Amino acid sequence: MQTHIGKKAAGEKAAEYIKPGMTVGLGTGSTAYYTILRIGELVRAGLEIKAVATSSQSEQLARENEIPLIAFDQVEKIDIDIDGADEADVQLQLIKGGGGALLREKIIAAASKEMLVVIDDQKLVKQLGRFPLPVEVVTFAWELTRKHLEAIGARPVLRLKDNNRFITDNGNYILDCYFEKIHNAAALHNQLNNIPGVVENGLFLHYATRLIIGHQDGTIREITHPYPARTSF
Ligand code: 5RP
Repeated sequence: MQTHIGKKAAGEKAAEYIKPGMTVGLGTGSTAYYTILRIGELVRAGLEIKAVATSSQSEQLARENEIPLIAFDQVEKIDIDIDGADEADVQLQLIKGGGGALLREKIIAAASKEMLVVIDDQKLVKQLGRFPLPVEVVTFAWELTRKHLEAIGARPVLRLKDNNRFITDNGNYILDCYFEKIHNAAALHNQLNNIPGVVENGLFLHYATRLIIGHQDGTIREITHPYPARTSF
């Protein structure tokens, strides 16, 4: 894989927030990739942590890097989740799911005390919506679900991979939804998740606690959430 300096800088920086004994959520994508590699180095140097992965892809990468994984039924708490994003604004609202892992990513983010989001500076936007919003839908009658999405103003496109329908780790499809602009992300989030057949959407509005932005010259900017970190369950 070609090294992307901004993604690498952000991904590696995030690993500095991990402390011994933590349970860590491992994100998905080409930025979280650098975090996982760095965590692997730290583990091999003696750092004791446990991890849960947000996708089969990250699970495999974690195994290759000797990061101890635990099953979800053994998870008592997740201290920190480190994941990428497709878009982020300064309020730490995100669009995620470009890699197709949004459902598991949201479950892990919602169960974590802190969510660190690692991006390069191209992904910081004034207003969410340039990136098509991924919406995970059940395969049954997905065409009807698509019609519902069109009725609320989206232009949904069924995601393909190698000319076949893309199937998520949960056996669902993804409809990438183009909107002119997202004016009220909270209202849209609720509207989407109220459509029968929609499993989850890629708006992550109240999860991120710290945004770590990597620049092409290797420098970093961080933005923290103005509110205190959540407690895990
Ligand atoms: C996967 C995601 C990724 O975090 C998002 O697509 C960003 O990926 P990358 O770091 O490769 O640009 O949401 O579902």
